[in-house]
Amino acid sequence: MAARLEPAASFQKLLDRPAPILALAPMQEVTDLPFWRLMTRYGGADVYFTEYFRVHADSNLEKWILESIVSNPTGRPAVAQMIGNDIPSLIRTAKKLQEYPVAAIDLNLGCPAPIVYKKCAGGGLLREPKRIDAILGALRDAVRVKFTVKTRIGFDSPEVFEELLPIFARHSIDLLTVHGRTVLEMYRSEVHYGFIARAVAAVRCPVLANGNVHSAAKAAEVLAVTGARGLMIGRGAIRNPWIFAQIRQHQRGEEITPPVGRDVLDYIGALYESVCTPGVPERLQVQKMKRYLNFIGLGVEPSGAFLHDIRRVTTRAEFFRVCEAFLDHGNAMPLEPFALALKQCDVMAGEHL
Ligand SMILES: Cc1cc2nc3c(=O)[nH]c(=O)nc-3n(C[C@H](O)[C@H](O)[C@H](O)COP(=O)(O)O)c2cc1C
Repeated sequence: MAARLEPAASFQKLLDRPAPILALAPMQEVTDLPFWRLMTRYGGADVYFTEYFRVHADSNLEKWILESIVSNPTGRPAVAQMIGNDIPSLIRTAKKLQEYPVAAIDLNLGCPAPIVYKKCAGGGLLREPKRIDAILGALRDAVRVKFTVKTRIGFDSPEVFEELLPIFARHSIDLLTVHGRTVLEMYRSEVHYGFIARAVAAVRCPVLANGNVHSAAKAAEVLAVTGARGLMIGRGAIRNPWIFAQIRQHQRGEEITPPVGRDVLDYIGALYESVCTPGVPERLQVQKMKRYLNFIGLGVEPSGAFLHDIRRVTTRAEFFRVCEAFLDHGNAMPLEPFALALKQCDVMAGEHL
């Protein structure tokens, strides 16, 4: 099967237009097909990145991730992300992926999970710029659709970033996403937006700024300080699926109407319906919902009581009882998450990855 042109063409249109590009970040076990579908109900992103395909000598494309590409319900380009370091396997996988309607192939240079970086994949590769150079050269030759990279600013220090930027520039990648933290900073530290601005100045391709964009106001600030062509948003979109629509509203100079408690309750209900698979035991479904609630809970109330209660439920009925106790109201929800809860959540995200 030949690579299809439509997703590539619509991605090109996105890259060419003047408005900022808004991407939904890849998030393992979160941004699957049902989640993508649900996001579109709230306005949705301009482009969607898949969870990463693991690439090694014996790897096959994970079927459930492939499903997001094949059935892409968003009407927007899908970018397939790969993680790995073995060049022949990466080339084989990139070629295989191009048989499906992908707009681009993305290489993960940021995953901070020790199990990944200890094998010198994901963020672990940032310790070996020469190896990155070789991988990018080989992939650039093999990828006929767009070729993109998602990176952090270093492994234990951002010093290496100055070495990485000319490598990214040399291989003519089509889009660079920069998560403004080192690998060892995981998700907790402040985001070093200055390094994202350095990338914008150093490469010719568009740059997406990533990290801690939680609101339309923050989005405008990050675009201004980095000069980036767009934003990639992860946890902020789980907590607040309206965020992409709110950013567009803000850019048009319109007032943002914050969702009220009941809107968030409806979102949680829709999420439960969307992401839970029929036939899976209720206990596991509730468990799965807790993964999303870790992030949604950041905007519910400042004391941590909501997350405390939600982590203890085991049944669907208890789950919704707690949600209703905190969210069955018509008061406006905060546009920014609460700082206290944010700290707790960062710990959980770090542990998860
Ligand atoms: C639960 C979770 C799973 C993630 N999985 C991936 C992944 O598969 N690939 C990737 O490049 N980044 C992954 N990330 C990192 C995000 O894409 C993003 O870079 C990071 O969360 C910072 O952006 P944010 O502050 O908007 O969330 C993951 C993050 C989280 C919280």
